Formats: sequence, C-alpha cells, structure tokens
Amino acid sequence: MRRIFSGMQPTGNLHLGNYLGALKNWVKVQQDGECLFCVVDLHAITVPQDPHKLRNATRETAAAYIAAGIDTKRNILFPQSAVPAHTELGWILGTQTPLGWLNRMTQFKEKSSKSRDLELLGLYSYPVLMAADILLYKTTHVPVGEDQKQHMELARDIAAAFNRAYGTEYFPLPEPQIMGEATRVMSLRDGTKKMSKSDESDYSRINLTDDADAIALKIRKAKTDAEPLPPTLAELEKRPEADNLVTIYAALSDSTRAAVLKTSAGAQFSQFKKDLTDLAVAKLSPITATMRELMADPAEIDRTLAKGAEKANHLAAKHLREVKDIVGFWRG
Ligand code: TYM
Repeated sequence: MRRIFSGMQPTGNLHLGNYLGALKNWVKVQQDGECLFCVVDLHAITVPQDPHKLRNATRETAAAYIAAGIDTKRNILFPQSAVPAHTELGWILGTQTPLGWLNRMTQFKEKSSKSRDLELLGLYSYPVLMAADILLYKTTHVPVGEDQKQHMELARDIAAAFNRAYGTEYFPLPEPQIMGEATRVMSLRDGTKKMSKSDESDYSRINLTDDADAIALKIRKAKTDAEPLPPTLAELEKRPEADNLVTIYAALSDSTRAAVLKTSAGAQFSQFKKDLTDLAVAKLSPITATMRELMADPAEIDRTLAKGAEKANHLAAKHLREVKDIVGFWRG
C-alpha cells in the first residue's frame, strides 16, 4: 500500500506556488493511499518566528489544506510539534548523515547567506528532520514542488544509509512526486526567481488570502515583455516571465503549456492577463472563502488537528519503537 506524506511550513501566507506545486497535487493523490498532511512548525522555527503568530499560522495552514480539498475524514492532518517522535527519529538519523551531504544543500546556503544570524544548527540540520518526517511513517510517496528535490534525494540517501548501517530494509526509499505543469512557480516580478513567502515585495506572489481585486492588480502589474505570446514552447522558454504566466494558466486550468499556446499564441499580454485573472479568481476565491469560514471557528480546526495528532502519534510511536529495537536501545 502507498503511504503518502507531505508538509508545509506555517510561515506567513501560503501562495500560488505552494498551491500549484504541492497542495493541488495532494488533493489529487489523496485517493491513492494512506495520507498524512503535516503542518511543519518545527521546521518553521529554523528562522525567527513570532510565537503568537506561529500558532495561528498553524491553524491557517491547516485551514488552507482543508479549503483546497483535503478530506480530514480519510487523511491525517496534524501539526508536527504535536508528534515528538519526529524529533527523536531526527536525532537517530543525524547519526547516519555525513556533514558533506548537508554541506551540499542549496537551501541552507541560500538562507544562511542572507544573514550571519541564520548560521544555525537547526537550519543546517533541517533536511535531517525532513527525512525523519517522511521515514517515521515508512512513507513511500512524497508530493512536493521542484525546490524540494534535493531534500528528497537526501531523505532517500539517509534511509539507505540507516538500512545499510543496521543491515535492515526497514525504511522504504521514498519517491518524490513532482507533478503537474507548475512544479516551480516563479515570482511575478522576476521570472528567474522562485515565488516565495520571504520575498519583500507582496506583488511578487499571489497569496491564498488575496481577494479578487488584489489578484487582478498583481497579475496586471506582473512583469512581462512587449511581444505577443509565441506559437512554440521553445520560443516561450526564452522568455521567463511569459513562460511563468503561461505555466500558471496551464496549471490552474489542468492543461499544459503547449495546449495554452495552441489557443493563445499571438495574443497580447493585455488580453492574456485578463483571461488569467478570471481563471485565477474563479479557481482561488472559493478556497479563500472557505479558509475564511474555517478560520472563523478556530476551535473546530483545533479539534481536527488534535484528532490528526492522535492518529499520527499512534503510528509514529509504533514505528519509533521498531527503530529503537533495531538500534539496540534498552526497552523495559
Ligand atoms: P515549504 O513550506 O517551503 O513549501 C511547501 C510546498 O510548496 C512547494 N513550493 C512551491 N512549488 C512550486 N513553486 C513554488 N514557487 C513553490 N514554493 C513552495 C514546496 O516544494 C513544498 O512542496 N521542506 C518543506 C516542508 C517539509 C516537508 C517535509 C515536505 C518539511 N518536512 C516532509 C515534504 C515532506 C518546505 O519547506 O516546504
């Protein structure tokens, strides 16, 4: 049976990249096996967080999962910090992770290069905790955006290293599922930069909490060039901003870039941006509205998270016991 695990950090607004690169695909794969969807608050504190905002951001992230279509009756939705086995397994896996592997991680290099204050052990060992998240549930499939590919390769390497060290096949090697047309959504201000929560400009991204006016304004202001849309993918790929908008259109309409070019080649951006706005508003505003309704009753979200945490703890405790037996820890 497939076991599917994925997570998002509760750090500020979720955006269109999170939705198209991950969340939308989670909704698709939730029929394929037993799924756990985690709000990774332990990862969030690898950069400074306001404690008051963090707790609410955890609820808001959970609300986004539910509003996008994650079925909480069939799947386990929970906050990472409510399952202590994640950190315990993280420690054990750290003993199988050579520093050289961590030194290669581009996300650590990027984040820590922004400020000396971020040269922290927690940020450095972030990918080991991510491997623990995944392996703790003996996960087979992990739907993520393209930026998590390197972390996924590391998780597989760590699983293999543990299995080798202890002469076991305990951990399956988890498969990344990098799916759909928009595996890497780019900034609306710069088509060579990833759309990200940490970009100072709010115009660089569409947040899942944006209303129709904000979406329209951001798409209208999105950087483009003066040429109409080209007929071929090869030509499109030379124009990062144009490519990004076509990619977003394709992903939102469950289509492909090639199909979008078939119908829109020759169109001016003034028109294409209007069409994209209509599509984005039609697809995103029901999610935004549901998120808002869910956030009006935080106690209900808390109940859902508590139920999820109980189920996750049950599964996690069983696996952690098995891992501790493999490692040779005392058990009374
Ligand atoms: P996070 O919180 O940065 O992002 C959550 C998910 O959104 C995807 N994503 C994007 N996809 C396409 N285009 C973008 N511009 C874009 N920005 C973000 C990410 O690929 C991710 O799938 N390390 C993870 C969280 C994590 C995790 C895990 C994921 C912790 N443990 C275990 C899977 C399994 C992260 O920082 O995601």
